[in-house]
Amino acid sequence: MATLSTHKKSRGRHAPAKKTSARGTTKKKTIPTVQPASGLADRQTPLIRNCWYVLDWAADVKRKLKNRMVLNQDLVYFRNKAGHVTVLQNRCGHRCFPLHRSKLHKEDDTIQCGYHGLTYGIDGTCVKIPSAMDLDPSYVKIQSYPVVEKGPMIWIWAGDPEIADPAMVPDYNWLMDGDWGYGDGFYHVKGNYLQIHENLMDITHFQYLHGAALGTPKHAESKVEVTVDGNTVNNYRINRGEGVPELHKKASGLGDAEIIRHANSTFITPGFHDAKALFEDPLGTNNGRTEYRPQILHFITPETQYTSLYWWIFARDFSPDNKKLDQIYSRATRSVFEEDKDAIEWIEDQWARDDRPGFRENHVPSDEGAVRMRRIVYKLAAAEAREAGA
Ligand code: FES
Ligand SMILES: [Fe+2]
Repeated sequence: MATLSTHKKSRGRHAPAKKTSARGTTKKKTIPTVQPASGLADRQTPLIRNCWYVLDWAADVKRKLKNRMVLNQDLVYFRNKAGHVTVLQNRCGHRCFPLHRSKLHKEDDTIQCGYHGLTYGIDGTCVKIPSAMDLDPSYVKIQSYPVVEKGPMIWIWAGDPEIADPAMVPDYNWLMDGDWGYGDGFYHVKGNYLQIHENLMDITHFQYLHGAALGTPKHAESKVEVTVDGNTVNNYRINRGEGVPELHKKASGLGDAEIIRHANSTFITPGFHDAKALFEDPLGTNNGRTEYRPQILHFITPETQYTSLYWWIFARDFSPDNKKLDQIYSRATRSVFEEDKDAIEWIEDQWARDDRPGFRENHVPSDEGAVRMRRIVYKLAAAEAREAGA
C-alpha cells in the first residue's frame, strides 16, 4: 500500500494564488520522496534516472536544434555531421541562456550561445569565449548525454554516465528484420509515467474504457498469470474460442473466426513496456494460416514528475508490406490510446484536485502485475536515493 508522504506548503493569507491547470483545476505542489515504510511506487516517487529512455523518433532529429524536457532536465539535441545524435543540456554554462535558441554551426557541429557567444562542441566542452579569446575556454562545460539510436527510436541515458550500457537498451531488433509492418503514434500525457505503465499492465479496463475495439467480455474476465523475473513483470492470459477484436478483424483476414488468444504484457524497464499477442486459428480460416502476431512497443519517458512522453509502435506480422494498413493501425491506435490518455489525465487531475488526506487505493486481484511493477520501481528509486545520499 502506498504510504508516501505529501509535503504540502501551507498557504497563508498573503500567499500567491494557486496555479490553475489547463483543465481549470488547481495543482498541489508536492516534493517527491522515498519513504522507508512504503514499498510501492506512486506518482510522487522520485523518477528513476539510471535507465534508457526514448527521446524522439530518429526520423525527426535532423541537422537543426530541438529541445525537450526529460526527467525534469531541459535538453538540446541535433544530428551531427557524422550522422549521430548529440544531446546536451539546454542551458548555457555562463548565464543559462537556452541553447535551442542559439546557433548551430553546421560546419563544425558547435552551438554558439545566442546571448554572449560562448561556443560548445559536441561533448559539451566550451571551445570559444568571444570576449576572452586569450583564455582557455575548456573550464566551461555543459552536460552531454549518452545516446543510442536503434531502429526508429533515439534513446538517452539521464543517469550516471559511468554505467550507461548501450546493451541495456531494450531489444526490439526483430522490428527491423523486414517481416513486420507497423503503425505508430505519440502522445504528451499530463500524468505521472507510472500511470501509463499501470494502464498497460491492466487488461481489465479494455472492455470498459475501449469497448469492442480491443476488449471482449471474456477477455476482461480471463485469469491472468503474473510472473516476475528480476526487474521485469509479465502478465499472461489465454482465451479459447474468442472472437478477434474489431481492430484486427479485417487486417488479419480472420473476420468472425473463433481464435485462441494469447496475450503477454511485460514491464521491462521504467522506460519500456512490451505487449505481445498471438492469435491461433487452428482451422486456418485465412488461406491455411494458423498464427498471427500483433505486438505493441510502448516507450514511456517521464518529462517531469507529473507529465510524460509516450510513443508507441503497433507492429504486426500479417500483411507487413501493406502501407495502408500501417495508416489504419496508426489511426485506430491513436483513438484507442486517446481513451487511455484521457483516463490517466482525469485520474491525475483527481489526485491534484480532490483533497482527501486519508485516501488509500484499494487493490483487486487483477492488479497483481501492476502492484509488483510498482514494488520494483519503488526498490529502484530507493536504491538511487541511497546512492545519492552515499
Ligand atoms: S548566457 Fe550563454 S554566453 Fe552568456
Ligand atoms: Fe487501454
